[in-house]
Amino acid sequence: MSIVCEFKPGLEGIPASQSSISYVDGQQGVLEYRGIPIEKLATHSTFLETTYLLIWGQLPTTAELAAFEQEIRYHRRIKYRIRDMMKCFPESGHPMDALQASAAALGLFYSRRALDNPEYIRAAVVRLVAKIPTMVAAFQMIRKGNDPIQPRDDLDYAANFLYMLNEREPDPLAAKAFDVSLTLHAEHTMNASTFSARVTASTLTDPYAVIASAVGTLGGPLHGGANEEVISMLEEIGSVGNVRAYVERCIQEKSKIMGFGHRVYKVKDPRAIILQDLAEQLFAKFGSDKYYDIALELERVVEEKFAHKGIYPNVDFYSGLVYRKIGIPTDLYTPVFAIARVAGWLAHWKEQLAENRIFRPTQVYMGNHDMPYIPIEER
Ligand code: ACO
Repeated sequence: MSIVCEFKPGLEGIPASQSSISYVDGQQGVLEYRGIPIEKLATHSTFLETTYLLIWGQLPTTAELAAFEQEIRYHRRIKYRIRDMMKCFPESGHPMDALQASAAALGLFYSRRALDNPEYIRAAVVRLVAKIPTMVAAFQMIRKGNDPIQPRDDLDYAANFLYMLNEREPDPLAAKAFDVSLTLHAEHTMNASTFSARVTASTLTDPYAVIASAVGTLGGPLHGGANEEVISMLEEIGSVGNVRAYVERCIQEKSKIMGFGHRVYKVKDPRAIILQDLAEQLFAKFGSDKYYDIALELERVVEEKFAHKGIYPNVDFYSGLVYRKIGIPTDLYTPVFAIARVAGWLAHWKEQLAENRIFRPTQVYMGNHDMPYIPIEER
């Protein structure tokens, strides 16, 4: 018996899972993690506390949080063999590719699958949350011809990453802004990379393969890669005076303006509002950025031209300006997004395992039937 159903490109509007991890109301601009509004978490929580919330479903007690933070600190280092493997990667390779390969390589060391054992789940969570930033920073050092910087136990999660990246302790405001940005990027319902993670998880493969698959999906310019494209676009526009002509050209050529539009949000993304505020705090302390004026004008002109289609800034529009100000190189913006999103992917991995059924959708076959096989010499 064949089931007839309407094909929806991009599976728009089709539920791929039931979930209680996060919630988005795209009309009202609401994002909640486990029911808590993102604005509250950005103000009061930390990335590691939020990670705990996402994965185990409730805010940790003081003792639970301290234990989790301690485990993360303990597992930050990466095996020298992974560092040596990274030394063989071409320096010109994209850091997302380096991250995907390194995340998958963790499976070589920790592949034992005990998916019904909560201790195995916790160990995998801790290893991935702890080691992904170290791997991103290590590749940055290696491609500059330096040895990776070892993590420092006296620094918190965000400050330690910036330290490993820039070889100096970050300013407290920069570390705080980075931590908030990680919280904002930690989870976002059934986006492409999370879907990818859940599909991979549903085969009961190991969690390192799940994360490697999600990292590969996040890298595309229509998803996490857009934050990098935003900065290239602002550079290309070059001045406030060129903004209108740029937008007109995009309309004429039917090309997308990076950092705008969203499948779900039809108002300004609530994360973009918080990131813009963070960018302004950083500019007030460390000096402005000429691309911010271009970004403001671009937001104004895009709103004028596209508000009727519900196209407003998404999370990627202001994140690049925050990252620029705290000294993160442009091609690390998407790996930094991955550092944050590991939390959400792992929460979905755990949720998928709890009620697993392997993903096996159907397709609408559009090809021929019963075709002849033409011998090669007759083609
Ligand atoms: N610039 C100009 N027009 C746009 C934009 C944009 N950024 N986004 C959507 N539109 C227009 C489309 O041209 C289309 O118009 P039409 O109906 O006249 O043909 C309409 O809005 C719907 O756009 P779709 O691409 O069909 O919307 P979809 O939901 O498939 O795509 C997406 C969402 C991929 C985010 C899209 O808005 C886009 O490509 N934006 C730019 C890339 C970007 O910023 N990606 C980051 C998204 S956030 C994240 O992944 C973390």
